Amino acid sequence: MQILFNFPLKSLNSFGFDVKAKEFARIHHTQDLLEALEYASSHQMPFQVLGGGSNVLLKEDLPGLTIHLELLGKSIVHQSATHTFIDVAAGENWHEFVAWTLDNHCPGLENLALIPGTCGAAPIQNIGAYGAEVATWIDSVEVLDLHHLGDDQAWQTLSRQDCQFTYRHSIFKDQPKRFIVTQVRFAIPKAWQANLQYAELANFFLHQPTPSAEDIFKAVCQIRSNKLPNPQSLGNAGSFFHNPQVNQTTLIALKEKFPQLVAYPGDFVNGENLYKLAAGWMIDQCGFKGFRQGNVGVYEKQALVLVNHGNGTGQEMLALASLIKEKIHAVYGVDLTQEPILMPN
Ligand code: EPU
Repeated sequence: MQILFNFPLKSLNSFGFDVKAKEFARIHHTQDLLEALEYASSHQMPFQVLGGGSNVLLKEDLPGLTIHLELLGKSIVHQSATHTFIDVAAGENWHEFVAWTLDNHCPGLENLALIPGTCGAAPIQNIGAYGAEVATWIDSVEVLDLHHLGDDQAWQTLSRQDCQFTYRHSIFKDQPKRFIVTQVRFAIPKAWQANLQYAELANFFLHQPTPSAEDIFKAVCQIRSNKLPNPQSLGNAGSFFHNPQVNQTTLIALKEKFPQLVAYPGDFVNGENLYKLAAGWMIDQCGFKGFRQGNVGVYEKQALVLVNHGNGTGQEMLALASLIKEKIHAVYGVDLTQEPILMPN
C-alpha cells in the first residue's frame, strides 16, 4: 500500500472543490484496507473513506489519511428459482453496473441509471430516483465493522433488514464512523415489470405502453441529462437537500396555505404515513433558481441542485445552503437537511 502526500482531490469530488488529502491511499484489496487502518491507528491520525466522491462536500483539506476505495469486481453468484444474486465490489461505478445487469439479462435497476457514484455508496444513502430505491434489490451488504476491528466479528454480512433502509437513509448514515462497505449482494427478481409510477417517466412512454428495461434505461438517462448538470462541466452533487418528510396534519396545513405545494407519499414511520415535500419546488418558489452567490449557485433548471461555477469552495457552498435553509424555514416552517456528507466532520 502506497501513501501519497498532499494528494489533490479536485477530480475525486463531483463538486470539483480544489482541496487536498494530507495523506492518501488507494485500496484495491480488502487486505489493503486493514493495512491502511493499521497505518492510521499506529500514527494516531484520523481517517476518512472516500468512494466516488459524488455525494460529499469537502469543506477544506482533509486531515490524516484519506482511504480511497477502489475495490473492483462483479459477478452473478447464484440463481434461485425466483432471483438472480449478484455480488459487486464497493468501488465499481454504479451506472456501469446498472448497464452490466441489463447486458446480463437481469433487468430491474434501470430506473436508477446514470446516478453518479459507486456501488459501495448505493446502500449508504439508499440511492433512489424515478420511483425506485436501491434497497428493494439489496440482499445483503459486506462490511468491515470498525467497532470489532481485530476480533472475529470485524467482517460482517448485514441483511437488508439490518441496514434499516428508509428514504435516503440507512444504518450507515446513523452510525457514520462504524461500517466500511466493501461489497453489496443484489437479489434481482426474475419476474420483471416496468416501473413507470413516476409521472415524468410515465409521460415519456405515453405512446409506447410496453417499454423494455433497455427503453426505460435510455429514457431515464435522457430525462436525467436534460435536468441535472453533468459534474464534468458544472460541479454538483445531485440533490443538495432531502425532500423533507412531514405527517398528514402538517401536509394539510401547508396545502391550505400553499395549494400548489408538490408532495408525494413518503416513509411509514412509527405507525404513521409521512409525505415528502418537493424541496426543489419550495426553493424554486422562493426565487432561488439560477441564483448565484460568488462562485457557487443554484442550478438554473433544478433548484434542488447546487452548483460550483468554478473556483467555488465548500465554505461558500455551506453559506449558500444556510441561506436557502433559513428562507425555507421562514416561509414553510420546515427544515431542510443536507444530502452530501460533510468532510472533514
Ligand atoms: N420542481 C420545481 N422546481 C424545481 C425543481 C423541482 O418546481 O426547480 C418540482 C418539479 O416540477 C416536480 C417536483 O418539484 O413537480 C419534484 O422535482 P423532480 O421530479 O425533479 O424530483 P426531486 O424531488 O427534485 C428527486 C430526487 C432525485 C431524483 C428525482 C427523480 C431527492 C432528494 N431527489 O428529486 O435524486 O433524481 O427525484 O426521481 O429525493 C439525488 O438524490 O441526487 C437526485 C438527483
